[in-house]
Amino acid sequence: MKTIGVLTSGGDAPGMNAAIRAVVRAGIYNKIRVMGIEQGYNGLINGNIKEMNLSSVADIIHRGGTFLKTARCEEFKTEEGRKKAVNVLNVFGIEGLVVIGGDGSFTGAKKLSELGIKTIGIPGTIDNDLAYTDYTIGFDTAVNTVLDAISNIRDTSTSHGRANIVEVMGRHCGDIALFAGLAGGAESVIVPEEKFEVDEVCRKLIQGKSRGKLHSIIMLAEGVGNAFELGKEIEEKTGIETKVTVLGHIQRGGNPSAFDRILASKLGAKAVELLMNGESGKVVGIKDNKLIDMDITEALSMKKEFDKETYELTKILSI
Ligand code: ADP
Ligand code: F6P
Repeated sequence: MKTIGVLTSGGDAPGMNAAIRAVVRAGIYNKIRVMGIEQGYNGLINGNIKEMNLSSVADIIHRGGTFLKTARCEEFKTEEGRKKAVNVLNVFGIEGLVVIGGDGSFTGAKKLSELGIKTIGIPGTIDNDLAYTDYTIGFDTAVNTVLDAISNIRDTSTSHGRANIVEVMGRHCGDIALFAGLAGGAESVIVPEEKFEVDEVCRKLIQGKSRGKLHSIIMLAEGVGNAFELGKEIEEKTGIETKVTVLGHIQRGGNPSAFDRILASKLGAKAVELLMNGESGKVVGIKDNKLIDMDITEALSMKKEFDKETYELTKILSI
């Protein structure tokens, strides 16, 4: 393998830069030319491609976002769009492609591999919604960002004796709410994977208040319900003033945590190694603290299991 390409696709995630750096540096170390493709599949179709050198990825390991930029590309979902992409890859002499993104980007990578392009996927999304890997790049940083926010919210909530609903991202996955809820000592964690009762949330708030708690945090994953309506209902039922904070895109930015930088560096190098071994249509990840690779079709067909044990623990520890 003489030339490979790397792109980031879908929602950005802290640590994507560290992953690009690892692909570029591991490639060059192994005497492979590495081409950076800008704006995901969009840039691929339009030939927005430039050769990377060691300096291209200097000073980025600690930066959030993706310096190659990212995009959501409708054209790539069409057969015609993908054929254009294959043509561009051939023109640039790119034999192998590393795609850093989530399940949508992986679906695109799988289709490219079916067209004869050697592709490897690296999981980059804050959502942690891929079943085959314990962690995706960006998740740990996002959880830490949420924790910072919770700690600020606690200060003001305590001063006023209020409750606060903190709505976090995750698309259809409750992992950010769950892990930030456990680490942040939330009174309740509301996720799409588990049914919840408003009355139970209210009971906990009242119980906490009666034993002298000065504030309460309710972690709410996006998409479960309207945070503001929930806040109103809780306030009416408990008499406790309830504020709502929707954290939004603040969770997608910021310097990647040590965990995400290390994971990204290892997975980037592993992706290059697989391409050098002639592998294709695979994804890399981490399972039980070990790096793994798996067939992309198999990985995409796996259903993510919700971490019920951790969920139950949040309930036990917030009595
Ligand atoms: P993520 O990779 O974070 O899940 P998206 O679901 O938005 O993000 O997907 C990112 C991009 O991957 C899409 O804009 C599209 O270009 C490509 N993609 C998604 N689904 C498909 C599909 N079924 N076929 C081909 N490409 C796809
Ligand atoms: O997939 C990452 C994510 O941040 C989700 O958590 C969220 O639902 C979505 O992307 C937001 O997308 P956008 O950046 O297009 O608003």
